[in-house]
Amino acid sequence: MTVADAPATSARVRKQYEYLPYPHREPSDEKKRLLITGLDELNCVNHYCFRGKRNLLGNFRTLVAGGGTGDAVVFLAHQLQKGMGDIVYVDLSDASQQVARQRLRARGLENRVKWIQGSLLDLPTMNLGKFDYINCSGVLHHLADPNAGLATLSGMLKDDGAIGLMVYGEYGRTGVYHLQNLFRLIGNREASLADQVAEARELLKTLPICNWYKRGAELFQPLESVGDTELLDLFLHTQDRAYTVPQIYDWVEGAGLHFAEWSADARIWYRPSVAFHDDALLDRIEKLPRREQEAACELFWGSIIKHTLWATKQPNTVASWADDDVAPTWTRLAGVLEVRKSILESPTPNWCLDIPKPGNAKIQARCLADEVTKRFVELADGSRTVIGILSQLVSEFPDRDVERLNRECVDVFNVLNANDLLTLRDKSVPFIPG
Ligand SMILES: C[S@@+](CC[C@H](N)C(=O)[O-])C[C@H]1O[C@@H](n2cnc3c(N)ncnc32)[C@H](O)[C@@H]1O
Repeated sequence: MTVADAPATSARVRKQYEYLPYPHREPSDEKKRLLITGLDELNCVNHYCFRGKRNLLGNFRTLVAGGGTGDAVVFLAHQLQKGMGDIVYVDLSDASQQVARQRLRARGLENRVKWIQGSLLDLPTMNLGKFDYINCSGVLHHLADPNAGLATLSGMLKDDGAIGLMVYGEYGRTGVYHLQNLFRLIGNREASLADQVAEARELLKTLPICNWYKRGAELFQPLESVGDTELLDLFLHTQDRAYTVPQIYDWVEGAGLHFAEWSADARIWYRPSVAFHDDALLDRIEKLPRREQEAACELFWGSIIKHTLWATKQPNTVASWADDDVAPTWTRLAGVLEVRKSILESPTPNWCLDIPKPGNAKIQARCLADEVTKRFVELADGSRTVIGILSQLVSEFPDRDVERLNRECVDVFNVLNANDLLTLRDKSVPFIPG
Protein backbone atom coordinates (compact mmCIF):
# COMPACT_ATOMS: atom_id res chain seq x y z
CA MET A 1 0.00 0.00 0.00
CA THR A 2 1.42 3.40 -0.89
CA VAL A 3 0.94 6.79 0.67
CA ALA A 4 -1.21 7.68 -2.33
CA ASP A 5 -3.86 5.34 -0.85
CA ALA A 6 -4.04 7.41 2.35
CA PRO A 7 -7.21 9.40 1.51
CA ALA A 8 -9.07 6.26 0.43
CA THR A 9 -7.98 4.42 3.57
CA SER A 10 -8.95 7.36 5.77
CA ALA A 11 -12.38 7.42 4.15
CA ARG A 12 -12.96 3.70 4.83
CA VAL A 13 -11.63 3.96 8.39
CA ARG A 14 -13.71 7.06 9.04
CA LYS A 15 -16.87 5.31 7.82
CA GLN A 16 -16.27 2.50 10.31
CA TYR A 17 -15.76 4.85 13.28
CA GLU A 18 -18.66 7.11 12.30
CA TYR A 19 -20.88 4.04 12.41
CA LEU A 20 -19.50 2.62 15.66
CA PRO A 21 -17.24 4.99 17.64
CA TYR A 22 -14.56 3.04 19.49
CA PRO A 23 -14.38 2.17 22.29
CA HIS A 24 -18.05 2.24 23.23
CA ARG A 25 -18.48 4.73 26.11
CA GLU A 26 -21.48 6.17 27.95
CA PRO A 27 -20.92 9.84 28.87
CA SER A 28 -23.12 9.38 31.95
CA ASP A 29 -20.46 7.01 33.37
CA GLU A 30 -18.21 10.03 33.97
CA LYS A 31 -20.26 10.70 37.10
CA LYS A 32 -19.26 7.27 38.45
CA ARG A 33 -15.60 6.77 37.58
CA LEU A 34 -12.48 8.14 35.96
CA LEU A 35 -10.77 5.82 33.46
CA ILE A 36 -6.98 5.79 33.81
CA THR A 37 -5.06 5.33 30.56
CA GLY A 38 -1.67 3.90 31.56
CA LEU A 39 0.22 5.91 28.95
CA ASP A 40 -1.11 9.22 30.20
CA GLU A 41 -0.50 9.19 33.94
CA LEU A 42 1.49 12.41 33.82
CA ASN A 43 3.72 11.61 36.78
CA CYS A 44 4.90 8.59 34.74
CA VAL A 45 5.21 10.62 31.53
CA ASN A 46 7.37 13.08 33.47
CA HIS A 47 9.47 10.26 34.95
CA TYR A 48 10.09 8.38 31.69
CA CYS A 49 10.08 11.16 29.13
CA PHE A 50 11.32 14.31 30.90
CA ARG A 51 13.65 13.04 33.67
CA GLY A 52 10.93 14.14 36.07
CA LYS A 53 11.78 17.77 35.36
CA ARG A 54 8.89 19.12 33.30
CA ASN A 55 6.47 21.57 34.88
CA LEU A 56 3.28 19.93 33.66
CA LEU A 57 1.09 22.74 34.93
CA GLY A 58 3.10 25.39 33.02
CA ASN A 59 2.83 25.75 29.24
CA PHE A 60 2.81 21.96 28.74
CA ARG A 61 1.03 21.40 25.40
CA THR A 62 -0.63 18.06 24.70
CA LEU A 63 -2.20 16.56 21.58
CA VAL A 64 -4.42 13.49 21.45
CA ALA A 65 -4.18 12.15 17.90
CA GLY A 66 -7.01 9.79 16.96
CA GLY A 67 -8.65 10.49 20.30
CA GLY A 68 -11.71 8.32 19.63
CA THR A 69 -14.39 8.43 22.29
CA GLY A 70 -12.09 10.25 24.66
CA ASP A 71 -10.36 7.97 27.19
CA ALA A 72 -7.00 9.74 26.90
CA VAL A 73 -8.32 13.27 26.44
CA VAL A 74 -10.60 12.89 29.47
CA PHE A 75 -7.76 11.64 31.68
CA LEU A 76 -5.32 14.30 30.42
CA ALA A 77 -7.84 17.14 30.80
CA HIS A 78 -8.69 15.89 34.29
CA GLN A 79 -5.02 15.98 35.32
CA LEU A 80 -4.31 19.26 33.52
CA GLN A 81 -7.43 21.14 34.55
CA LYS A 82 -5.23 23.68 36.38
CA GLY A 83 -2.54 23.61 33.66
CA MET A 84 -1.78 26.52 31.36
CA GLY A 85 -0.90 24.56 28.20
CA ASP A 86 -3.31 23.72 25.37
CA ILE A 87 -4.94 20.32 24.99
CA VAL A 88 -5.83 19.48 21.39
CA TYR A 89 -7.96 16.52 20.25
CA VAL A 90 -8.10 15.36 16.63
CA ASP A 91 -10.01 12.44 15.11
CA LEU A 92 -11.39 11.52 11.71
CA SER A 93 -14.71 10.55 13.21
CA ASP A 94 -17.20 13.24 14.16
CA ALA A 95 -19.35 10.70 16.00
CA SER A 96 -16.37 9.72 18.19
CA GLN A 97 -15.60 13.37 18.90
CA GLN A 98 -19.19 13.95 20.02
CA VAL A 99 -18.88 11.18 22.61
CA ALA A 100 -15.54 12.54 23.85
CA ARG A 101 -17.01 16.06 24.09
CA GLN A 102 -20.03 14.83 26.05
CA ARG A 103 -17.74 13.05 28.48
CA LEU A 104 -15.75 16.20 29.09
CA ARG A 105 -18.93 18.27 29.28
CA ALA A 106 -20.06 15.98 32.08
CA ARG A 107 -16.86 16.96 33.91
CA GLY A 108 -17.19 20.66 33.14
CA LEU A 109 -14.00 20.48 31.05
CA GLU A 110 -15.23 20.54 27.44
CA ASN A 111 -13.78 24.02 26.87
CA ARG A 112 -10.39 22.99 28.25
CA VAL A 113 -9.86 21.17 24.91
CA LYS A 114 -9.54 22.40 21.31
CA TRP A 115 -11.59 20.01 19.15
CA ILE A 116 -10.64 19.15 15.58
CA GLN A 117 -12.29 16.76 13.14
CA GLY A 118 -9.77 15.64 10.52
CA SER A 119 -6.79 13.46 9.76
CA LEU A 120 -3.67 13.52 11.89
CA LEU A 121 -1.78 13.52 8.59
CA ASP A 122 -3.01 17.07 8.02
CA LEU A 123 -1.88 18.39 11.42
CA PRO A 124 1.17 20.22 9.97
CA THR A 125 -1.19 22.43 7.93
CA MET A 126 -3.35 23.44 10.91
CA ASN A 127 -1.09 26.06 12.57
CA LEU A 128 -1.27 24.37 15.94
CA GLY A 129 2.36 24.88 16.99
CA LYS A 130 4.48 22.13 18.55
CA PHE A 131 3.58 19.87 21.46
CA ASP A 132 5.32 18.59 24.58
CA TYR A 133 3.35 15.34 24.68
CA ILE A 134 1.26 13.47 22.13
CA ASN A 135 -0.98 10.50 22.90
CA CYS A 136 -1.66 8.26 19.91
CA SER A 137 -3.15 4.99 21.06
CA GLY A 138 -4.53 2.35 18.73
CA VAL A 139 -4.50 4.63 15.71
CA LEU A 140 -1.36 4.46 13.58
CA HIS A 141 -1.78 0.75 12.78
CA HIS A 142 -5.00 1.78 10.98
CA LEU A 143 -3.23 4.14 8.56
CA ALA A 144 -2.26 3.20 5.00
CA ASP A 145 1.27 4.24 5.91
CA PRO A 146 1.96 4.14 9.67
CA ASN A 147 5.52 5.35 9.00
CA ALA A 148 4.15 8.55 7.47
CA GLY A 149 1.76 8.87 10.43
CA LEU A 150 4.50 8.57 13.03
CA ALA A 151 6.81 10.89 11.08
CA THR A 152 4.01 13.49 10.98
CA LEU A 153 3.47 13.25 14.74
CA SER A 154 7.21 13.33 15.40
CA GLY A 155 7.30 16.57 13.42
CA MET A 156 4.56 17.99 15.69
CA LEU A 157 6.71 17.51 18.82
CA LYS A 158 8.93 20.14 20.39
CA ASP A 159 12.65 19.29 20.27
CA ASP A 160 12.38 17.70 23.69
CA GLY A 161 8.85 16.33 23.30
CA ALA A 162 7.51 12.82 23.85
CA ILE A 163 4.84 10.55 22.46
CA GLY A 164 2.82 7.74 24.04
CA LEU A 165 1.98 5.05 21.50
CA MET A 166 -0.07 1.88 21.38
CA VAL A 167 0.05 -0.41 18.36
CA TYR A 168 -0.92 -4.05 18.00
CA GLY A 169 1.42 -6.95 18.73
CA GLU A 170 1.82 -9.39 15.86
CA TYR A 171 2.26 -12.74 17.60
CA GLY A 172 -0.42 -12.24 20.23
CA ARG A 173 -2.96 -11.37 17.54
CA THR A 174 -2.15 -14.30 15.24
CA GLY A 175 -5.64 -15.77 15.57
CA VAL A 176 -7.28 -12.38 15.01
CA TYR A 177 -5.51 -12.02 11.68
CA HIS A 178 -6.58 -15.51 10.62
CA LEU A 179 -10.17 -14.47 11.19
CA GLN A 180 -9.72 -11.05 9.53
CA ASN A 181 -8.37 -12.90 6.46
CA LEU A 182 -11.26 -15.36 6.60
CA PHE A 183 -13.89 -12.61 6.72
CA ARG A 184 -12.09 -10.73 3.94
CA LEU A 185 -12.28 -13.89 1.84
CA ILE A 186 -15.86 -14.94 2.48
CA GLY A 187 -17.59 -11.91 4.01
CA ASN A 188 -20.11 -9.90 2.06
CA ARG A 189 -18.41 -6.52 1.79
CA GLU A 190 -21.39 -5.18 -0.18
CA ALA A 191 -23.64 -5.68 2.86
CA SER A 192 -24.16 -2.93 5.45
CA LEU A 193 -21.69 -2.88 8.36
CA ALA A 194 -24.55 -3.98 10.65
CA ASP A 195 -25.20 -7.05 8.48
CA GLN A 196 -21.50 -7.87 8.21
CA VAL A 197 -21.19 -7.75 12.00
CA ALA A 198 -24.27 -9.95 12.44
CA GLU A 199 -22.97 -12.51 9.95
CA ALA A 200 -19.51 -12.57 11.55
CA ARG A 201 -21.06 -13.05 14.99
CA GLU A 202 -22.93 -16.13 13.80
CA LEU A 203 -19.83 -17.66 12.24
CA LEU A 204 -17.73 -16.94 15.33
CA LYS A 205 -20.15 -19.03 17.40
CA THR A 206 -19.23 -22.06 15.31
CA LEU A 207 -15.43 -21.81 15.55
CA PRO A 208 -13.79 -25.16 16.33
CA ILE A 209 -11.42 -25.41 19.29
CA CYS A 210 -8.51 -25.99 16.89
CA ASN A 211 -8.98 -22.52 15.37
CA TRP A 212 -6.03 -20.25 16.28
CA TYR A 213 -8.24 -17.53 17.72
CA LYS A 214 -10.01 -20.08 19.92
CA ARG A 215 -6.64 -21.48 21.02
CA GLY A 216 -5.63 -18.08 22.34
CA ALA A 217 -9.11 -16.84 23.19
CA GLU A 218 -8.20 -16.06 26.81
CA LEU A 219 -6.04 -13.20 25.50
CA PHE A 220 -9.22 -11.42 24.46
CA GLN A 221 -12.59 -10.55 25.93
CA PRO A 222 -14.94 -13.59 25.77
CA LEU A 223 -16.81 -13.57 22.45
CA GLU A 224 -20.19 -13.77 24.23
CA SER A 225 -19.53 -10.42 25.89
CA VAL A 226 -18.02 -8.69 22.84
CA GLY A 227 -20.32 -5.91 21.63
CA ASP A 228 -20.76 -4.94 17.99
CA THR A 229 -18.21 -2.12 18.35
CA GLU A 230 -15.46 -4.47 19.53
CA LEU A 231 -16.41 -7.15 17.03
CA LEU A 232 -16.16 -4.75 14.10
CA ASP A 233 -12.86 -3.35 15.38
CA LEU A 234 -11.30 -6.75 16.03
CA PHE A 235 -12.40 -8.93 13.13
CA LEU A 236 -13.71 -6.72 10.33
CA HIS A 237 -11.32 -3.78 10.38
CA THR A 238 -10.61 -2.53 6.88
CA GLN A 239 -7.07 -1.45 7.74
CA ASP A 240 -5.02 -3.07 10.47
CA ARG A 241 -1.41 -4.13 10.91
CA ALA A 242 0.68 -5.29 13.85
CA TYR A 243 4.29 -5.07 15.04
CA THR A 244 6.97 -7.24 16.59
CA VAL A 245 9.44 -5.79 19.11
CA PRO A 246 12.26 -5.30 16.54
CA GLN A 247 9.78 -3.65 14.18
CA ILE A 248 8.72 -1.25 16.95
CA TYR A 249 12.30 -0.14 17.54
CA ASP A 250 12.93 0.31 13.79
CA TRP A 251 9.66 2.18 13.36
CA VAL A 252 10.30 4.57 16.25
CA GLU A 253 13.89 5.24 15.23
CA GLY A 254 12.86 5.68 11.58
CA ALA A 255 10.70 8.62 12.72
CA GLY A 256 13.66 10.29 14.45
CA LEU A 257 12.56 9.20 17.94
CA HIS A 258 14.20 7.29 20.79
CA PHE A 259 12.51 4.41 22.55
CA ALA A 260 12.01 5.45 26.21
CA GLU A 261 10.05 2.65 27.98
CA TRP A 262 7.10 0.29 27.73
CA SER A 263 4.11 1.39 29.75
CA ALA A 264 3.53 -0.49 32.98
CA ASP A 265 0.46 -2.33 31.66
CA ALA A 266 2.68 -4.86 29.92
CA ARG A 267 6.23 -3.99 30.95
CA ILE A 268 6.98 -7.18 32.84
CA TRP A 269 6.41 -9.33 29.74
CA TYR A 270 9.46 -7.72 28.11
CA ARG A 271 11.75 -8.45 31.09
CA PRO A 272 14.04 -11.49 30.55
CA SER A 273 14.22 -12.20 34.30
CA VAL A 274 10.43 -12.70 34.35
CA ALA A 275 10.49 -15.13 31.41
CA PHE A 276 13.74 -17.09 31.81
CA HIS A 277 14.75 -18.78 35.03
CA ASP A 278 17.83 -20.76 34.11
CA ASP A 279 20.77 -18.66 35.38
CA ALA A 280 23.16 -19.50 32.52
CA LEU A 281 20.48 -18.86 29.91
CA LEU A 282 19.40 -15.62 31.55
CA ASP A 283 22.99 -14.49 31.74
CA ARG A 284 23.40 -15.10 27.99
CA ILE A 285 20.14 -13.33 27.13
CA GLU A 286 21.00 -10.32 29.27
CA LYS A 287 24.18 -9.82 27.25
CA LEU A 288 22.12 -9.26 24.08
CA PRO A 289 21.13 -5.75 22.97
CA ARG A 290 17.96 -4.60 24.74
CA ARG A 291 15.72 -5.01 21.70
CA GLU A 292 16.87 -8.62 21.23
CA GLN A 293 16.28 -9.43 24.89
CA GLU A 294 12.76 -8.09 24.54
CA ALA A 295 12.24 -9.81 21.18
CA ALA A 296 13.14 -13.09 22.90
CA CYS A 297 10.56 -12.40 25.64
CA GLU A 298 7.89 -11.59 23.07
CA LEU A 299 8.54 -14.89 21.27
CA PHE A 300 8.66 -16.79 24.57
CA TRP A 301 5.26 -15.58 25.78
CA GLY A 302 3.58 -15.28 22.39
CA SER A 303 0.78 -13.41 24.13
CA ILE A 304 1.58 -9.70 23.72
CA ILE A 305 -1.44 -8.35 21.84
CA LYS A 306 -0.54 -4.66 22.21
CA HIS A 307 2.72 -2.76 22.45
CA THR A 308 2.31 0.33 24.62
CA LEU A 309 5.33 2.61 24.93
CA TRP A 310 6.77 6.08 25.19
CA ALA A 311 9.22 7.49 22.66
CA THR A 312 11.07 10.77 22.89
CA LYS A 313 12.85 13.28 20.67
CA GLN A 314 15.86 13.32 23.01
CA PRO A 315 17.74 10.23 24.22
CA ASN A 316 18.12 9.25 27.92
CA THR A 317 14.96 10.84 29.26
CA VAL A 318 14.26 8.54 32.21
CA ALA A 319 14.56 10.12 35.69
CA SER A 320 17.45 8.87 37.79
CA TRP A 321 17.57 7.87 41.45
CA ALA A 322 21.09 9.34 41.52
CA ASP A 323 19.77 12.83 40.68
CA ASP A 324 20.10 15.00 43.82
CA ASP A 325 16.94 16.96 43.02
CA VAL A 326 14.34 14.24 42.55
CA ALA A 327 11.62 13.29 45.03
CA PRO A 328 9.85 9.89 44.97
CA THR A 329 6.28 10.61 43.87
CA TRP A 330 3.34 8.22 44.21
CA THR A 331 1.15 7.74 41.16
CA ARG A 332 -2.60 7.79 40.94
CA LEU A 333 -2.62 4.00 40.60
CA ALA A 334 -0.67 3.75 43.86
CA GLY A 335 -3.39 5.85 45.48
CA VAL A 336 -6.17 3.71 44.04
CA LEU A 337 -4.45 0.53 45.24
CA GLU A 338 -3.56 2.12 48.62
CA VAL A 339 0.01 0.93 48.17
CA ARG A 340 1.56 3.02 50.95
CA LYS A 341 -1.01 1.84 53.47
CA SER A 342 -0.60 -1.75 52.36
CA ILE A 343 3.19 -1.65 52.86
CA LEU A 344 2.98 0.23 56.15
CA GLU A 345 0.41 -2.22 57.51
CA SER A 346 2.00 -5.34 56.02
CA PRO A 347 1.70 -7.99 58.76
CA THR A 348 4.74 -9.86 57.41
CA PRO A 349 8.14 -8.64 56.20
CA ASN A 350 7.28 -10.13 52.78
CA TRP A 351 4.96 -7.54 51.26
CA CYS A 352 2.93 -8.66 48.28
CA LEU A 353 0.16 -6.92 46.36
CA ASP A 354 -1.95 -7.92 43.35
CA ILE A 355 -1.64 -5.38 40.56
CA PRO A 356 -4.50 -5.55 38.06
CA LYS A 357 -3.44 -5.72 34.40
CA PRO A 358 -5.49 -5.37 31.21
CA GLY A 359 -7.62 -8.36 30.26
CA ASN A 360 -8.47 -9.28 33.86
CA ALA A 361 -4.86 -10.41 34.42
CA LYS A 362 -3.04 -9.74 37.67
CA ILE A 363 0.59 -9.74 38.65
CA GLN A 364 2.04 -9.65 42.13
CA ALA A 365 4.45 -6.94 43.25
CA ARG A 366 6.66 -8.17 46.09
CA CYS A 367 9.32 -6.62 48.24
CA LEU A 368 10.80 -6.75 51.71
CA ALA A 369 8.68 -4.71 54.11
CA ASP A 370 11.05 -4.36 57.06
CA GLU A 371 11.36 -1.29 59.28
CA VAL A 372 13.63 0.51 56.79
CA THR A 373 11.20 -0.07 53.92
CA LYS A 374 8.30 1.14 56.01
CA ARG A 375 10.15 4.26 57.07
CA PHE A 376 11.17 4.91 53.43
CA VAL A 377 7.54 4.63 52.38
CA GLU A 378 6.51 7.01 55.16
CA LEU A 379 9.19 9.54 54.30
CA ALA A 380 8.41 9.40 50.55
CA ASP A 381 5.75 12.09 50.74
CA GLY A 382 6.23 13.58 47.27
CA SER A 383 8.29 16.50 48.52
CA ARG A 384 11.33 14.95 50.25
CA THR A 385 14.15 14.19 47.81
CA VAL A 386 15.94 10.85 47.66
CA ILE A 387 18.95 12.49 49.32
CA GLY A 388 16.75 13.98 52.05
CA ILE A 389 15.12 10.62 52.74
CA LEU A 390 18.47 8.84 52.88
CA SER A 391 19.99 11.31 55.30
CA GLN A 392 16.95 10.97 57.55
CA LEU A 393 17.28 7.16 57.43
CA VAL A 394 20.99 7.39 58.27
CA SER A 395 20.13 9.36 61.41
CA GLU A 396 17.38 6.91 62.40
CA PHE A 397 19.30 3.66 61.68
CA PRO A 398 22.84 4.39 62.87
CA ASP A 399 23.78 0.69 62.76
CA ARG A 400 23.42 0.58 58.94
CA ASP A 401 25.70 2.45 56.57
CA VAL A 402 24.35 4.71 53.86
CA GLU A 403 25.22 2.29 51.01
CA ARG A 404 23.15 -0.42 52.63
CA LEU A 405 20.23 1.90 53.28
CA ASN A 406 20.45 3.20 49.72
CA ARG A 407 20.44 -0.38 48.36
CA GLU A 408 17.37 -1.28 50.41
CA CYS A 409 15.50 1.82 49.23
CA VAL A 410 16.52 1.24 45.59
CA ASP A 411 15.21 -2.32 45.79
CA VAL A 412 11.82 -1.13 47.02
CA PHE A 413 11.76 1.73 44.54
CA ASN A 414 12.55 -0.62 41.63
CA VAL A 415 9.67 -2.95 42.50
CA LEU A 416 7.21 -0.08 42.83
CA ASN A 417 8.53 1.80 39.82
CA ALA A 418 8.35 -1.31 37.60
CA ASN A 419 4.60 -1.17 38.16
CA ASP A 420 4.35 2.62 37.81
CA LEU A 421 3.36 3.04 41.44
CA LEU A 422 6.28 5.26 42.42
CA THR A 423 8.05 7.70 40.11
CA LEU A 424 10.65 10.45 40.45
CA ARG A 425 9.91 14.14 40.07
CA ASP A 426 12.15 17.17 40.36
CA LYS A 427 11.46 18.93 43.66
CA SER A 428 10.97 22.23 41.83
CA VAL A 429 7.99 21.12 39.72
CA PRO A 430 4.44 20.93 41.07
CA PHE A 431 2.89 17.61 41.90
CA ILE A 432 0.01 16.53 39.64
CA PRO A 433 -2.72 15.05 41.76
CA GLY A 434 -4.44 12.10 40.04
C1 LIG B 1 -9.29 2.11 17.76
S1 LIG B 1 -9.79 3.76 17.87
C2 LIG B 1 -8.79 4.32 19.23
C3 LIG B 1 -9.36 5.51 19.91
C4 LIG B 1 -8.56 6.05 21.08
N1 LIG B 1 -7.24 6.47 20.70
C5 LIG B 1 -8.49 5.06 22.21
O1 LIG B 1 -7.39 4.51 22.46
O2 LIG B 1 -9.49 4.84 22.87
C6 LIG B 1 -8.96 4.50 16.49
C7 LIG B 1 -9.35 5.95 16.28
O3 LIG B 1 -8.41 6.54 15.37
C8 LIG B 1 -9.11 7.39 14.50
N2 LIG B 1 -8.30 7.54 13.28
C9 LIG B 1 -7.93 6.60 12.41
N3 LIG B 1 -7.17 7.11 11.45
C10 LIG B 1 -7.04 8.44 11.73
C11 LIG B 1 -6.37 9.54 11.10
N4 LIG B 1 -5.68 9.39 9.99
N5 LIG B 1 -6.44 10.73 11.71
C12 LIG B 1 -7.16 10.93 12.84
N6 LIG B 1 -7.82 9.92 13.45
C13 LIG B 1 -7.75 8.71 12.92
C14 LIG B 1 -10.43 6.68 14.28
O4 LIG B 1 -11.43 7.54 13.80
C15 LIG B 1 -10.72 6.13 15.67
O5 LIG B 1 -11.46 7.02 16.45
